[in-house]
Amino acid sequence: MSSSEQTIKKFNEHVMQSYGRYPLVMEKGQGRNCKDEDGKEYIDFGSGIGTNSLGYCDEKWADAVCAQVRTLQHNSNYYYTAIQAEFAEKLCETAGYDRVFFGNSGAEANECAIKIARKYSFDKYGKGRHTIITLVNSFHGRTMATLSATGQDVFHNYFFPFLEGFVNVAANDIDDLKAKLDDTVCAVMLEYVQGEGGVNALQQEFVDAVYELCAAKDVLVIADEVQTGVGRTGKFLAGDWFGKKADVTTLAKGIAGGIPMGACLVNEKLRDVFTPGTHGSTFGGNPIACAGGLAVLDRLNSDGFLSEVNKKAQYFKEKLENCSEVAGTSGLGLMIGITLKTKKAADVAKASLDKGLLVLTAKDKVRLLPPLTIEYSEIDAGLNKLFEVLEE
Ligand SMILES: Cc1ncc(COP(=O)(O)O)c(C=O)c1O
Repeated sequence: MSSSEQTIKKFNEHVMQSYGRYPLVMEKGQGRNCKDEDGKEYIDFGSGIGTNSLGYCDEKWADAVCAQVRTLQHNSNYYYTAIQAEFAEKLCETAGYDRVFFGNSGAEANECAIKIARKYSFDKYGKGRHTIITLVNSFHGRTMATLSATGQDVFHNYFFPFLEGFVNVAANDIDDLKAKLDDTVCAVMLEYVQGEGGVNALQQEFVDAVYELCAAKDVLVIADEVQTGVGRTGKFLAGDWFGKKADVTTLAKGIAGGIPMGACLVNEKLRDVFTPGTHGSTFGGNPIACAGGLAVLDRLNSDGFLSEVNKKAQYFKEKLENCSEVAGTSGLGLMIGITLKTKKAADVAKASLDKGLLVLTAKDKVRLLPPLTIEYSEIDAGLNKLFEVLEE
């Protein structure tokens, strides 16, 4: 048995089988490339589902994280740390928000947003105004509340009863939104680009209508930017492309460059909704994660970084659309969906592995979430492998 076969055997004997995994044991990474246990190299167009925003083991990021590990790895949220204060300040400034709550994942950030919306409404209007409208085909996480919020029937199995108080509206259907925005609603939650749902951007007209209708009724807008945030779309927040600032924005995935962290950002109106004891997380705002987050923010805020992300996104798009097997591309920035003419996305992802390329899928599309630091030569090398698979 090879070393990777032994690892897979041990793994499957002891780890719950909740994922359909590829038979590949990842050993290490550097830049935009990683290596499996058998020594095979891969170009990574998936970045751990958008988490390794600066690629693997970026030097400045690794130095910052390691320095923090050697200084103070954790303490309880009953005390203050300078690094959480610094990260909170820089994140709020960069994102344009008033305050932040730190958790450890996207689902937790969304749980936090749901609690804030319900408490804001309860404090101001009393009971009964607790419904949260989410969109058909959305994805908000795997906890009970975020599964209940997720607008896909496939996720509403086995784990009954789901939480009450979530209603789905068809994306881009303003009439459906108007019909369901009744007096029980406290928030509308949306992804500007539905990621897991197939890399589909919302229409500007619909986003405008959401904000206008919500403002008129003091209904909060929650932007789930877990996948779209932190530079992924070429702006710090995808909401910036739409000219909108949600009352609440949630972030996770790439926020700390590959260390677990989630953040729920609120505007001034919501700054005091949580009072001591109403929410918490043992690991939220962990110093190591904050050190990683600061290194990511420093890079994103450096001159020209986001405009380079946009240029690279355009480069990807032009090359992809010249491929005979590609019917079209979707998404924003380096969040790219590829519609295929004849091939199945799952088959392409699998065949790409053999060629030494990691790609993702979303519904029937191939999905690319490359590290934001990817270089043109790496885009070329990865796309050549993808085109070989597509044109085979
Ligand atoms: C838009 C969105 N929200 C929430 C989540 C859940 O994030 P996590 O897996 O970190 O809990 C995801 C994960 O894919 C996501 O894409």
